[in-house]
Amino acid sequence: RPGDTQPAGVALAGDYWRPEGRPDPLGEQGRSGIGAPLSRVDGADKVTGGARFAGEFRFDGMLYAALVYSTIANGRIVGIDTCDAESLDGVALVMTHQNAPRLNTPPVFLRAPNGAAGDDHPIMQTDRVHWNGQPVALVLAETQEQADAAAESIRVDYAAEPAMTDFAIAKTQARQPDNLLGGPAEIRVGDADSALAAAAYRVDATYTTPRHSHNAIEPHALTLAWVNEPEGEGETLRIHDASQCVDLAVASLAEVFGIDISRIHITSPFVGGGFGGKTLWQHQILAAAAAKLAGRPVRLALSREGVYRVVGGRACTEQRVALGADDRGRLQALIHSGVAAMTRHNNLPEPFFQATKCLYAADHIRLSIEVADMHMLANTFMRAPGESVGTFALESALDELADQLGMDPLELRARNEPERDPTSGLAFSSRHWLEAARAGAERFGWSERSATPAGRHDGEWQIGMGCATATYPYMRMPGAAASITLTPDGATVGIAAHEMGMGTATVQTQVAAARLGLPVEKIVFRYGDSQLAGSVLAGGSQQTAAIGGAVIAAQRALVTELLSLVDEHSPLSGLSPDEIECRDEGLGAIGDGSRFESYRQILASAGRSELCVEANAAESQELGNWSMHSFGTIFCEAGVSAVTGEVRVRRLLGSFDCGRILNAKTAASQFRGGMIMGLGMALMEETLFDARSGRVMNPSLADYHVPVQMDVPEIEVMWTDIPDPRTPMGAHGVGEIGITGVGAAVANAVYNACGKRVRDLPITLDKLL
Ligand code: MOS
Repeated sequence: RPGDTQPAGVALAGDYWRPEGRPDPLGEQGRSGIGAPLSRVDGADKVTGGARFAGEFRFDGMLYAALVYSTIANGRIVGIDTCDAESLDGVALVMTHQNAPRLNTPPVFLRAPNGAAGDDHPIMQTDRVHWNGQPVALVLAETQEQADAAAESIRVDYAAEPAMTDFAIAKTQARQPDNLLGGPAEIRVGDADSALAAAAYRVDATYTTPRHSHNAIEPHALTLAWVNEPEGEGETLRIHDASQCVDLAVASLAEVFGIDISRIHITSPFVGGGFGGKTLWQHQILAAAAAKLAGRPVRLALSREGVYRVVGGRACTEQRVALGADDRGRLQALIHSGVAAMTRHNNLPEPFFQATKCLYAADHIRLSIEVADMHMLANTFMRAPGESVGTFALESALDELADQLGMDPLELRARNEPERDPTSGLAFSSRHWLEAARAGAERFGWSERSATPAGRHDGEWQIGMGCATATYPYMRMPGAAASITLTPDGATVGIAAHEMGMGTATVQTQVAAARLGLPVEKIVFRYGDSQLAGSVLAGGSQQTAAIGGAVIAAQRALVTELLSLVDEHSPLSGLSPDEIECRDEGLGAIGDGSRFESYRQILASAGRSELCVEANAAESQELGNWSMHSFGTIFCEAGVSAVTGEVRVRRLLGSFDCGRILNAKTAASQFRGGMIMGLGMALMEETLFDARSGRVMNPSLADYHVPVQMDVPEIEVMWTDIPDPRTPMGAHGVGEIGITGVGAAVANAVYNACGKRVRDLPITLDKLL
């Protein structure tokens, strides 16, 4: 098998590529400057066991929690027998809707201000069941094993009611959602339907993508306690959580429990992956409620199955892409519409047309999304929501059109490069897709692709190549702030942001060091703590820019503050902040090497041991005025067995245009990780949802397949490294773009290999026989 003869696993993360003629950050900035492949500052802790994750903290007198999940999708609980459970050794509490404390409904992510919750169902407050898998009881016991055994012994009787659990039926009753990520759920430019009917060349096809479940390597867990503050100051809820939004989670929990946000403190220093799923779900609220009822601290660690029952994932979609073109391949009509499953209790129609808004210069465009209401766990953000599955449909259709035109698919895309954003009309802040695509094609050896399908063979293996465009929007959300504490020995930067394995702590240490003119060794970057400055969501690939904006603001506040300390004898006397730069561990006049004073000197002459500043990031001016996106092209070489239909991806290359790259090593890992997720989406990932019962049937990594070592071929990544002049530091986030385009690149390679077009993910061998 080719998989056996290929080098298994990914290439070394330090092995990255830079375009000719661009400066090498190693030469320019030393080993740790912006762009340099600095190794993770938290790496040693992670590989030596020094890193403590949320489910590893402990409190004295702590109890362990286990959940019982409903087995119907809609209806009422008519009886819960907890007698056996309560009589078992070590059981301290059984909580059901009959004895749970009164809780307010949680504010929903992206609907309510400060919402972090997946849905707005009341949590264990009534006898109603809304999805198959909803928690209906919680057990606390002295050990995890006792809690699990007691949970098993609980018997629940239900009065089931009709439930909408079949997408094939639900989609016939689809409705327009209120909004799509706050914007319209339908966009029209010109008259796409007429233009399609008049076009000389047409593709009009339906693409389907399945549900996907969150599978962070660290399942969701938390350890918490209601702590009695001294001197009658009341109670504080202290939570060690695995979170990508500590600040939003505090705000939401405060609302649920009807207490002030100052009464809740969440820390989350290490997170084993988030991907959109580590927000606020029922388990955190139930754990806090049970701890209050029992009067003891609680640890709740969801089992892998528990994550599938309680934490939403990606909804299934059915998408139509229709393209009309002239004989030179210029797009006249572009239609991308369809249906996604959803509940009425959350606010995320899987936004599959997001990428289509900005990619191609079609004269007439129509984009729309409808949602099919189902009785299911609320779907949520997951690994480039929208773009991942949307680019599968769009980029497969482009490949079908190229095939019809007899044109190279990369050339077809190049002919439709837009001058301006085709739906908003805005200018692009930075768009170098073509440069990235051409460089990628050359390095990949794209010219060796057979122009006709089934043109290359290697024994039983049919070999093909495919490509697809990758894209993800640039975002910078409001709310970011940073503090800087400067001492003679260095600086501590604090911000309520997150490190979930992406490299944030490392990259932002570099950013702060460069910004403050300090070596990285003298920077401490603090994060993952709701008491730190500001509020930053680690999502939407926006953290990098959000933190960058906050650090810029805090640095400016620091410079202003330091200048106010210097006296008339200082070489800096009389200079304004605009005339100052941070360099060589101090402040210097821009363009005048002789006027300089070190931080140490300034602090000493002012008699200060430290200086603290805090500042809010400037509001984003960039987003309303420019169309801002990252771009790339994914190249894939795949083999399809003529005997078994098995697909083995032999090579993947991603060539990206994501602004300035801040750390070549962590960025390469982000791109590769995303592309591996894309590979899983292309070939294996699928949450099996029983249309009769609404039950997820494969809630484990044994039955829900993700790529393992031997599924992952050689992956190369490269980038333009062209700074975006509109963003802090010229950077874009790189977290999610890697997954986009991969599904189509694989599907297109499969078509080129064997002539079969698979429009339904995942591309399993039964679809190729
Ligand atoms: Mo990502 S799905 O924006 O956490």
